[in-house]
Amino acid sequence: PRVMVLFGGRSGEHAISCATAGGVLRALDRDRYDVLAVGITREGRWVLADDDPDRWTIEDGHLPQVEDAAAHVLLPQDPTDRAVRVLGADSLAQAVGEVDVVFPLLHGPFGEDGTLQGMLELADVRYVGDGVLASAVGMDKHMMKLVFAGQGLPVGPFVVLLPGAYERDPQGQTERIAALGLPVFVKPARAGSSLGISRVDDLADLPAAIAHAREHDPKVVVEAGIEGREIECGVLGGHHGERARASLPGEIVVDHGKHAFYDFEAKYLDEAAVRLACPADLPDEVTARVREIAVQAFEALGCEGLARVDVFVTPDDEVVVNEINTMPGFTPFSMYPRMWEASGVSYPELVDDLVRLALE
Ligand code: DAL
Ligand code: MG
Repeated sequence: PRVMVLFGGRSGEHAISCATAGGVLRALDRDRYDVLAVGITREGRWVLADDDPDRWTIEDGHLPQVEDAAAHVLLPQDPTDRAVRVLGADSLAQAVGEVDVVFPLLHGPFGEDGTLQGMLELADVRYVGDGVLASAVGMDKHMMKLVFAGQGLPVGPFVVLLPGAYERDPQGQTERIAALGLPVFVKPARAGSSLGISRVDDLADLPAAIAHAREHDPKVVVEAGIEGREIECGVLGGHHGERARASLPGEIVVDHGKHAFYDFEAKYLDEAAVRLACPADLPDEVTARVREIAVQAFEALGCEGLARVDVFVTPDDEVVVNEINTMPGFTPFSMYPRMWEASGVSYPELVDDLVRLALE
């Protein structure tokens, strides 16, 4: 089968997507799959990309990016460009139709949020991972929480600032936020990799934190800080009426001397700051609950394929759902593949499973 590995993209997580693609390009069995690497530049242009995995690693703080130099697969502004003809097609729908399956390794808006998935549905092309609705809800921390809460899953206290709400009534909104207690975490509703997130320990810092989140999304979610361990769980499958499987949970252990929370730096640039403990050292009963809640969260959104569910485990062993990521970081060193590795599924097997599930 011909697999289009699609990565990069217009979101702030462009480089992380490239690194993810590097891992997948290395793992895909080239004897079995005819691999076509397609990058999306930060401007949204689709280009034929280097399929050499080494080109896409994060090394010594250098973040990879898709350059607009290769042959275009698509120029969104000009559908008649030679771009599309590289794949022997006259439209984007036909271009993606040249492959058997698309592996959209995109993080963040315009990729992980249902927009791309909708395009692939219209083009009638198979793709790996979650569909339109699950992707859209999973991208939006506001909608995600509403769906989780509606399904009876434990979510922490939060306040949503719709666009303009803070400007119209800063004092009233500050009071709502203050009622959450401090610290709070101020987040863009739709972003990832901790971009635009601030921890606020003093209400005087709130306006700057809101402005920072707004750089990524006009809608902002403010969450009560939850005291607890940061535990993650991988979910896989969920096709054709079969219940999805949960991996063993992993734990993010952050050096709080250096980072106030698990921010972008700690995630990708400061290896010494974070330890991923996999599997997490939790009582069996808590492990079982985390895994069950992870599958329930996956089901609440109607996910298919994969997702990583992030929770807090409080000092009295309560599990609170923080969020779901429908295209979690997927380099061999990322938590999602590592949790599966600890559960007996190797990285190449995981990649192969996902492609097979999409093709079935
Ligand atoms: N948004 C990043 C890639 C993650 O959830 O792993
Ligand atoms: Mg996330």
